[in-house]
Amino acid sequence: MVAPTIQSTGTATDTGTTGRRQRVFSGMQPSGNLHLGNYLGALRNWVTQQEAYTNVFCVVDLHALSLPTDPVELRANTLELATTFLAAGIDPAQTILFVQSDVREHSEAQWLMSSVTQFGELRRMTQFKDKSDGRDDVSAALFTYPILQACDILLYDTDLVPVGEDQKQHIELTRDIGHRFNTRYGETFVLPRPDIKPEGARIMALDNPLKKMSKSSGTANSLIYLVDEPDAIRRKVRRAVTDSGSEVRGGTDKPALNNLLTIYSLLSGRSVAQVEQDYEGKGYGAFKGDLAEVVVEKLTPIRERLETLNADPDEVRRILHDGADRARAIAGPKLDQMRDRMGLGI
Ligand code: TYM
Repeated sequence: MVAPTIQSTGTATDTGTTGRRQRVFSGMQPSGNLHLGNYLGALRNWVTQQEAYTNVFCVVDLHALSLPTDPVELRANTLELATTFLAAGIDPAQTILFVQSDVREHSEAQWLMSSVTQFGELRRMTQFKDKSDGRDDVSAALFTYPILQACDILLYDTDLVPVGEDQKQHIELTRDIGHRFNTRYGETFVLPRPDIKPEGARIMALDNPLKKMSKSSGTANSLIYLVDEPDAIRRKVRRAVTDSGSEVRGGTDKPALNNLLTIYSLLSGRSVAQVEQDYEGKGYGAFKGDLAEVVVEKLTPIRERLETLNADPDEVRRILHDGADRARAIAGPKLDQMRDRMGLGI
């Protein structure tokens, strides 16, 4: 049974069919420093759309357990990721920001939803295939992970899920199992739509434009971290591969240039066509030099705010604990409703 078909891009209206303000939910794994792909594919959109929606954002530490993790590192990465969200502009006054494992409803809901999820559905997940490929220590958590992600989303009556392209299949599964639960047990969940922007949804590795920019499979020069110092950014952009030819003009046979143009365009606010016009007759050297400065200009304030916020981790913990209380107030009643409808409790 498959959920009704969907549009893949959310519309920026602030009221849904129910007349309530639309709710956005998204999450990121605390698996080390954020890179430009995470920022342009997701975090930046969370920040720019923040005022139009009711937002719930989550550091998904339970998801990180699906691959081998060091407890000390996991805890440090969790705090650092939440601090980075704040440094990038997430405003806890208008947004619920919390750590997934602080709201235990997610784990319980996962077990309940695993009973309406089919083995075959999980086996088809391309992220599972990618992440398990070549490993001999594949955990059951890596396999069942999309059910937890579905619960993250469904527990909050989420309308829109702003993510990069690689999460689309997980959102489709969320809709399918949410719909199945509704059909079997009565209307319980809102079926969410992915909010995937046409630009920036798949930022590619700087050293290989055919591979997505990714922490797990990337080399040092393939990604730019949000915390990179200006000189590191300049060096990585200078070394980024380019396509044959010398004209700054994208096209179907120019994957490297398309990627650099996308990054330039999103960070500068100029359209790709305008950027191409700006660099007519100027060649790759001038373009890459300016691209590095555009990246430095956008990332430096985030890095500086991060340094300031890092000086007061207790304040970040306070924000996260408050966020968890607010999240629990939504997820708790939804979990109670699930339990009740499934015949649990006497
Ligand atoms: P994660 O932590 O791998 O990635 C976080 C976000 O960054 C986006 N992203 C990219 N976007 C563009 N180009 C890239 N190269 C790139 N690399 C990563 C991802 O699409 C994502 O939006 N399963 C999720 C986390 C999660 C979640 C959720 C997301 C758990 N529960 C509920 C939404 C809703 C993940 O591992 O993302």
